[in-house]
Amino acid sequence: MNVLVTGGAGYIGSHTVVELLRSGHEVVVVDDLSNAKIEVIDRIKEITGKRLHFYWIDCADKEKLWDIFRNHSVDAVIHFAGFKAVGESVQKPLQYYRNNLDSTMTLLEVMEEFGCKKLVFSSSATVYGPNNPHPYKEDMPAIQSSSPYGWTKVMIERILTDYVTAHPDFCAILLRYFNPIGAHESGLLGDDPNGIPNNLMPFIGRVAAGKLEKLTIFGGDYDTPDGTCQRDYLHVVDLAVGHLKALEYAAKHEGVEAINLGTGNGISVLELVTAFEKVNNMKLPYVIGPRRDGDLPAFWADATKAKELLGWEATHTVEDMCRSSWNFAKNAST
Ligand code: WQD
Repeated sequence: MNVLVTGGAGYIGSHTVVELLRSGHEVVVVDDLSNAKIEVIDRIKEITGKRLHFYWIDCADKEKLWDIFRNHSVDAVIHFAGFKAVGESVQKPLQYYRNNLDSTMTLLEVMEEFGCKKLVFSSSATVYGPNNPHPYKEDMPAIQSSSPYGWTKVMIERILTDYVTAHPDFCAILLRYFNPIGAHESGLLGDDPNGIPNNLMPFIGRVAAGKLEKLTIFGGDYDTPDGTCQRDYLHVVDLAVGHLKALEYAAKHEGVEAINLGTGNGISVLELVTAFEKVNNMKLPYVIGPRRDGDLPAFWADATKAKELLGWEATHTVEDMCRSSWNFAKNAST
């Protein structure tokens, strides 16, 4: 298939592009490089030995997007492009709503003009909000979030659902990711955010590399087995393969489907830190600090739907995730 990947230079996007190319798909990447580096495109080529088309554009730029659809006959789209920093979204809600919603609606309009009817959307477990019991299942209410970032995911899921109601021959797969960590085995691709990382694993990577002094674990008094929060961490390469499977499913189906991509296991912050220390044979300086506003004590996926519908399940262990994260972080530029 000819697959357009928006945000294809980003952390999850780049790993997905590698899997697409390896499976023989033709790939067109659009990315505005607002939170990604141009070198990533060369690294994808280096890893796969394949060519790809790259356009440095904002996917809310309708004319430029239109040109891309005119030049490539796009069969399907995987839509990652969007701002994703939870804390920043609280400070800059308008930017988040404008950017994430505009890019999606522009993309849908252009897809409609060109008769492209297959879309895989990068959603998030954040749509389950604070009130559902875990493990989260796709049929639970997914109508509330705790940050403008999260609300953009809820709203885009709604937009896509309404769009499919009006266009029943369209297929939209809403992939709800849990906590992706890890990196490509080559050490060439990984999570390398600008500035001080908000997410746990890139923060650990910079502490391990001596670029940050110590990790602060946010809260040690939660009602969990060791007092620290539990999350469903999954390897980014597993996640990338999940997109490939979702694309193959979309190619043969119509309608809208929300699907969790997680391992189905909860791991605590302390367990992750300990696993990182063990597999990488090092000590990580850390302190237990106060809770972070907005953090939920524990959640993980019920991952049965992904297995049943897509034939997908996570195959990498926590040790794989910690080893590959360090293999990337020790050489990362920031
Ligand atoms: C994980 C755990 C922290 C940093 C967020 C978004 C979600 C998705 C993934 C994607 C928590 C703890 C963290 C640190 C710590 N978004 N932690 N010290 O909050 O589960 O999910 O990222 O784009 O939508 O909400 O992920 O990696 O920030 O935190 O103790 O320095 O690590 O409290 O328990 P989170 P995270």
